[in-house]
Amino acid sequence: MRKPFIAGNWKMYKTVAEAVSLANGLKTALADVTTMELAVCTPATALAAVSGALAGSNIGVGAQNMYWKDEGAFTGEISPVMVKELARYVIIGHSERRQYFGETDETVNLKLKAALAHGLTPIVCIGESLEQNKAGETVPFVGAQIRGAFAGVSAAEAVNVVLAYEPIWAIGTGLTATPEDADRIIQVAIRDVLAELYDGAVAEAIRVQYGGSVKADNMADFIVMPNIDGALVGGASLKVDSFTGIVKNALAALGM
Ligand code: PGA
Repeated sequence: MRKPFIAGNWKMYKTVAEAVSLANGLKTALADVTTMELAVCTPATALAAVSGALAGSNIGVGAQNMYWKDEGAFTGEISPVMVKELARYVIIGHSERRQYFGETDETVNLKLKAALAHGLTPIVCIGESLEQNKAGETVPFVGAQIRGAFAGVSAAEAVNVVLAYEPIWAIGTGLTATPEDADRIIQVAIRDVLAELYDGAVAEAIRVQYGGSVKADNMADFIVMPNIDGALVGGASLKVDSFTGIVKNALAALGM
């Protein structure tokens, strides 16, 4: 049984003071949630303060990116060792990083292996563009992203990975995939490929979040789908009420 997991991706929003205020609000509002894993992925500048604010709570902390080397002359980057001091999770290969900062399946793979080697829980993002979707290329494209990300990752490590299927055209647009389409793509482009790379047990063990314009009023439709184990939430994770609404509606839909 895969434990449901909802994570907020705060992107490049929130000063340290704003981040701590949001974290404290979520800590209070979500204090009674025990059956679902929860995390917030903050800007790197807020990791230390938010991890302090959420210490001992049921909400984990994640980074939004990292480099794959432990240390070195890499100006502006943060390493897995540094992330590990402050966070348990790290988002890898978000489509905004692929689009604006040159991330490729190869760098995603290097980062994924580094995160696993350091005991971080990676949240690896995959998903197709609108053009690819319209051209009917979603399944081969997402399948190739999975193959690229997991190259050289052992089965024992693979089960610790969380995936976020985020159609790029659904991110921040108010558009979403239909729950049925998202569920089908996760089955054929993600779980079937993982079963081929590893085996059925690994494919069934890995949690897959849906991401892209998740809100309180559509969360239930996604979370009840058999292949969808939670959500990666951008815009609606930036306020206590909207993120709390997503979590509560997911719990209600699951009867938890
Ligand atoms: P959104 O972002 O919820 O604002 O669409 C999702 C994401 O980018 O992870």
